[in-house]
Amino acid sequence: MSKNLKKISKDGLLAADLASDSDEALDLSLRPQTLSEYVGQPAIHQSLEIFLQAAQSRGENIEHVLLYGAPGLGKTTLAHVIANELKANLRVTSGPAIEKAGDLAAILTNLQDGDLLFIDEIHRLPRSVEEILYPAMEDGALDIVLGKGPSARILRLDLPRFSLIGATTKISLLSAPLRDRFGMVYRLDFYGVEDLEKIIKRSAKILQIELEPSASHLIAERARRTPRIANRLLKRVRDYSQVKGSGAITEDICRQAFELLAIDDLGLDNMDRLLLETIIDKFGGGPVGLNTLAASTGEELITIEDIYEPYLLQLGFLERTPRGRKVTVKAYKHLNRVPPDSLF
Ligand SMILES: Nc1ncnc2c1ncn2[C@@H]1O[C@H](COP(=O)(O)OP(=O)(O)O)[C@@H](O)[C@H]1O
Ligand SMILES: [Mg+2]
Repeated sequence: MSKNLKKISKDGLLAADLASDSDEALDLSLRPQTLSEYVGQPAIHQSLEIFLQAAQSRGENIEHVLLYGAPGLGKTTLAHVIANELKANLRVTSGPAIEKAGDLAAILTNLQDGDLLFIDEIHRLPRSVEEILYPAMEDGALDIVLGKGPSARILRLDLPRFSLIGATTKISLLSAPLRDRFGMVYRLDFYGVEDLEKIIKRSAKILQIELEPSASHLIAERARRTPRIANRLLKRVRDYSQVKGSGAITEDICRQAFELLAIDDLGLDNMDRLLLETIIDKFGGGPVGLNTLAASTGEELITIEDIYEPYLLQLGFLERTPRGRKVTVKAYKHLNRVPPDSLF
């Protein structure tokens, strides 16, 4: 087996690095720049068009925007699109990168009028930092506490006029006071196959990959309704074709590549199947708690929760019950297993 192929099969577990931006260069080159290039999300499209235009015609900053949705659905991309549409500077940081109140104060005081501040994974901001953010968002001011105890005083500094764009995969972890300070809240939906096909075709063009239309459909169907996965699958199949084919992506090459990657017709990979089979074989189909499931599959709880479970729930393969996760009849059938009588 050539070196390239080994790499493809070793990384076959496509979801393993989905939450991260490890394919950063790829993400960057394929990222739409304008709202018209941004595929799908019609509700957000319509609302943003009006909202951005209205703010611009009044010559005002936009309200603070919160974007939430599963990893890879286009939150970071949308933040950049908004900045491009407004021709504004986007300053980028993230919840985990801001450890202390002073870190955020430094960022805020360095902004310029009209700037956009993007805080990714905003649910991971420490509470002490969040408290700096409240007056900054509400009054455009920074409150600095001087001294300690009874003689402490608060000094209020005016900040440059900025708008915040927050992004999160976990809106439930956002404190209510923080959530309430966003004027616009957009939930990103999972994508339909047609939209994913558009994204795949656009990416193939940028990457100068020859792509059969039927192949783009095949990839779209296996992309777990997520643009980032669509782009990654496209790249994996391209790698396969460069080694085993002519470099062009045909339907046949796609099928071979997916077989090697152990990705089935619905886009499930080995880890998805291990999760479902573990529940079936070790826990009689469930219910079983996520903690127990993590321990018996050796996968991290957070990865199961963020990456695998949402798609399995969407497919109707898993069910959430108060006592844990249960495998459904549909999943038994997909795995060619006989569902127990108790499920009927
Ligand atoms: N609506 C979209 N149209 C076209 N491409 C998209 C869209 N949303 C996401 N993408 C692609 O998917 C990749 C991942 O999107 P990203 O914005 O990083 O997701 P998130 O920040 O929600 O995890 C981007 O590089 C981009 O190429
Ligand atoms: Mg992101």
